[in-house]
Amino acid sequence: MRNYIGAEVHRPGVGRVLNGAADADLQNLRVYAHDAVELLRNEIADGSLAEVRLWFPDPWHKKRHNKRRIVQPEFVSLIARKLAPGGLFHLATDWMPYAEHMFDVMEAAVEFKNELGPRVIAPRPEWRIETHFERRGLKLGHEVADLLYRRV
Ligand SMILES: C[S@@+](CC[C@H](N)C(=O)[O-])C[C@H]1O[C@@H](n2cnc3c(N)ncnc32)[C@H](O)[C@@H]1O
Repeated sequence: MRNYIGAEVHRPGVGRVLNGAADADLQNLRVYAHDAVELLRNEIADGSLAEVRLWFPDPWHKKRHNKRRIVQPEFVSLIARKLAPGGLFHLATDWMPYAEHMFDVMEAAVEFKNELGPRVIAPRPEWRIETHFERRGLKLGHEVADLLYRRV
């Protein structure tokens, strides 16, 4: 059985996940109401994760806010350190300028290789559930991009 760890700083969101997990009687989930970067740095052993899922991170639409985006070279190298060899980093966004930014950062990261070729958007994997923010984006007419990068 796979174990899952979630991180969210918005406490009502954490509450919703925990309620859902209790209703489904899940035994394989831990949720941290804490910053994901600190969690990765301080609580997760190097090379211990099979997969990291970063689905619909805050897009920070305005140009002057782009530097707040979580996908940055330092963050990606932290993910690389925590993934086991062959592990998967799965990113998804409904904001194409963010997808382009993700591609720029991921293609420059020597630890990762796009499963389908450089800068190729993956078809939505059937295991990825439709998320709240994805639904919102689709209603606004946004396209959705899945990016699948393998730790080499
Ligand atoms: C746009 S929402 C997407 C939520 C969900 N993945 C979805 O698709 O519906 C981004 C979420 O990331 C959370 N977040 C942003 N930075 C974070 C961080 N450093 N650590 C943990 N959560 C963070 C925000 O609180 C927000 O709930």
